[in-house]
Amino acid sequence: MGRLITDARALRSGYVPQELYHREGQIAKLSSALRPITHGDIGEDAFVFGPSGVGKTTTAKFVLRQLEHEAFGIRWGYVNCMSDSSKSAVLHALTKHAGRAADLRIEGTPASTFVDRLRELDGQFVAVLDEVDVLEDPTTILALYDLPNVTMILITVHEDDLFTNLDSRAESRLRGAEKVHLEKYSHDEMVDILRGRIDAGFEPNTVSDDAVDYIADIAAGDARFGIALLRRSARWAIEIQRSQITTDVVDEIRDEARDELHMRHVDALSTHQRMLYEIIKGAGEIGAGELREQYEERAGSNAKTARMQRKYLNGLTRYNLIRSHGSGRWTRYELRQY
Ligand SMILES: Nc1ncnc2c1ncn2[C@@H]1O[C@H](COP(=O)(O)OP(=O)(O)O)[C@@H](O)[C@H]1O
Ligand SMILES: [Mg+2]
Repeated sequence: MGRLITDARALRSGYVPQELYHREGQIAKLSSALRPITHGDIGEDAFVFGPSGVGKTTTAKFVLRQLEHEAFGIRWGYVNCMSDSSKSAVLHALTKHAGRAADLRIEGTPASTFVDRLRELDGQFVAVLDEVDVLEDPTTILALYDLPNVTMILITVHEDDLFTNLDSRAESRLRGAEKVHLEKYSHDEMVDILRGRIDAGFEPNTVSDDAVDYIADIAAGDARFGIALLRRSARWAIEIQRSQITTDVVDEIRDEARDELHMRHVDALSTHQRMLYEIIKGAGEIGAGELREQYEERAGSNAKTARMQRKYLNGLTRYNLIRSHGSGRWTRYELRQY
């Protein structure tokens, strides 16, 4: 059997591809919002919206890397609010990316210290806040908005989620921000993305055309899932000593590929989201009241407000980790299973 894979990096999840397929319009829009930065001016704040796996995070990073090539001294910081959701955690992460946090700890450092460090940067800074709807404290956005040298890219699934969570001051200030919408990929677009990875990472003719089509179908517009299917298929084909990935190979790993994504999302959860996830997992199914009680018991004096808990649960739902039925205090939560 020949080697199937020539470059495993192309299949890694954090890999930013050389080419982003079918995102030309969105890339252009985001680049032009940030363009003033290349002349030392502040950019236009921008939102990136779209469901899971449509390239939101990758598009933002891709545009920033392009900009870095075009102009000197562009600095940017990325923070995923799923893992760092408190105001100090977000500001600390950004200050760290700016290279100004070496002597500061999250605990015990007031938010204003981080804000001052960012203000004192000589030059423009882009703050990327991913999954921003789970941000605990909307004044984080206001603080960044007030900095004359900081441009924000705010990434989230639904425009509605975001605005119901922001307070009205933040909302009114961001009303004029650029909005970039990403839709699920069509079948043909997904095939192009998969082919891009195959060309970058596989020996020629090691994935059958049928298998590519089949993976594109299963992935249903989610590139993260498509690439996970490809990665798993390659690993399985090597394991069973096949020289080609065919539809039957894909069939054998599709459930595992889904589980893998599930686990990866669980790994990215912040402490309190994970607590909630584990309570629901332990119970199988649980009502809102009971869930609140068990959460307060576990978290003790650190328990977040009911409003914050709702945000966390929304995040878990969007990641397809849990499902909910009913509404208000009759809401019931259950683990999502396949
Ligand atoms: N247009 C594209 N071309 C090539 N790869 C893509 C494209 N869109 C997404 N990907 C890949 O799919 C995966 C998921 O993309 P990501 O940006 O994390 O999605 P999101 O942030 O919307 O959930 C990443 O591995 C990314 O490199
Ligand atoms: Mg993302």
